[in-house]
Amino acid sequence: MSLESKIKVLEEMHITAEQGGGQERIDKQHSAGRRTARERIELLLDPGSFVEIDKFVTHTATDFEMDKNKILGDGVVTGHGKIEGRLMFVFAQDFTVFGGSLSRANANKIIKLMELAMKMGAPVIGLNDSGGARIQEGVQSLAGYADIFYRNVRASGVIPQISAILGPCAGGAVYSPAITDFILMSKETSYMFVTGPDVIKAVTHEEVTKEELGGAMTHNKKSGVAHFLADDEEQSLMMIRELMSFLPLNNMEDPPVKACDDDPQRIDKKLDEIIPNDPNKPYDMKEIIHSVVDHGHFLEVQPHYAQNIIVGFARLNGRSVGIVANQPQVLAGVLDIDSSTKAARFVRFCDAFNIPLITLEDVPGFLPGTTQEYGGIIKHGAKLLYAYAEATVPKITVITRKAYGGAYDVMASKHIGTDVNFAYPMAEIAVMGPEGAVNIIFRNLDEETRKEKVQEYRDNFASPFKAAEVGYIDEIIYPRNTRKKLIQALEMTKNKRDSNPPKKHGNIPL
Ligand code: HXC
Repeated sequence: MSLESKIKVLEEMHITAEQGGGQERIDKQHSAGRRTARERIELLLDPGSFVEIDKFVTHTATDFEMDKNKILGDGVVTGHGKIEGRLMFVFAQDFTVFGGSLSRANANKIIKLMELAMKMGAPVIGLNDSGGARIQEGVQSLAGYADIFYRNVRASGVIPQISAILGPCAGGAVYSPAITDFILMSKETSYMFVTGPDVIKAVTHEEVTKEELGGAMTHNKKSGVAHFLADDEEQSLMMIRELMSFLPLNNMEDPPVKACDDDPQRIDKKLDEIIPNDPNKPYDMKEIIHSVVDHGHFLEVQPHYAQNIIVGFARLNGRSVGIVANQPQVLAGVLDIDSSTKAARFVRFCDAFNIPLITLEDVPGFLPGTTQEYGGIIKHGAKLLYAYAEATVPKITVITRKAYGGAYDVMASKHIGTDVNFAYPMAEIAVMGPEGAVNIIFRNLDEETRKEKVQEYRDNFASPFKAAEVGYIDEIIYPRNTRKKLIQALEMTKNKRDSNPPKKHGNIPL
């Protein structure tokens, strides 16, 4: 074969591989409102930065005449590229090839990519769109899944792992995304479930649609499995780019610092009036967050789930921070099962990836009730306590109003290793609210004396001054100075060195 013919063969192979399952299936994918694997990668990465690996891999199955049916690439596109000039590894399942199903060969491509990513210290982004295990391959496919799960676990806390669900993701296949750090789902075109509607109907006689069972809104709002909800695929991919801008490439790096033209000394007088004088009146904690962070830019994580707590990423003077904040506007900002686990997972992510934690606290306590107690609020609340106590990144807390009972301890108090604890002058730090406290320590009082005692309790205990007297609060700050104070504290803690005692791993109450 001449040199020219050899080059021609290579060119043809490239063209064939790039056509995946063929034009008809590509058209079907488009008409379902979904893009092909390569189109998605193109959108996700910096233009022209994608380098494909294993483009000509094919499966090795022979049953069901599979040996006569081979497609270059075998249903997953893998490689590396850049986001804002930084290295990322990507795999994108190609639904046009055997429904993006996972074969042994296809799993091997993903595994090779994950191992490269671990060695090079760069994130793995998975774009999932697959009919699950390659049915023709049986146990080989199951083995492939388990090999991926194993590597997901080994990579956890070492490199960020992101999963976008852009089509079906069912059966055991859901467990790879579930182990990764963040799951994004796009509306109407993605779904995740362990068993589908038909199996559910047969086993439990429940009737449920695919969308209700495992659609994007279900997992963003009800189950808390997903972290981001996108209107469409394009938004999903843009959200990954934005998320990445806050994260380091691996656990040995600090997050990227951006040049900041938002004044670090900026004060906001509006904050002096944001906390209502009536302690039972709600306000929107997000207003405080938007006021203090650089350019008001806040990437909220799980914005639809357990809205009584807010978590997400922002920058302060160009540095990435993870924000955890009670939301007095929802359930008075109380801690319950869902908000505790939501925040605990976020705290652990930030700690694993060197992202300082800012806690804005206004919490009346843990939610009372049999539903919570039977549901295990003790162990779930303990997760948040554990996560905060274990975190060795810089930890800075601002008590904006209520810090009552066990929730005071849990929400990054001084006692569990927080570096800087601020309080607003209107903060109330006590065992419980004045009304509850007086009802317990003075029973059978007439209404007038009861009111007096409530006021006395409020004056004595429901303030930050007792805590400041003993150094549990480092400084009582003017709310208008919050941004400036947080940035000063971040600078002070910048070179913090702290570690937990050597151990195999702790035993977080799961
Ligand atoms: C092989 C598959 C496949 C699979 C789909 N295809 N799923 N091939 N193995 N798992 C092929 C189809 O044969 C078809 O090929 C093409 O992909 C597109 O599929 P359609 O059915 O035409 O597409 P659509 O109507 O959009 O339906 C998509 C779907 C459906 C809902 C995903 O294909 C489906 O139910 N597939 C099976 C899902 C499943 O039960 N998987 C196993 C789950 S258990 P042609 O050639 O016609 O284009 C599992 C265990 C994992 O995954 C365990 C890990 C521990």
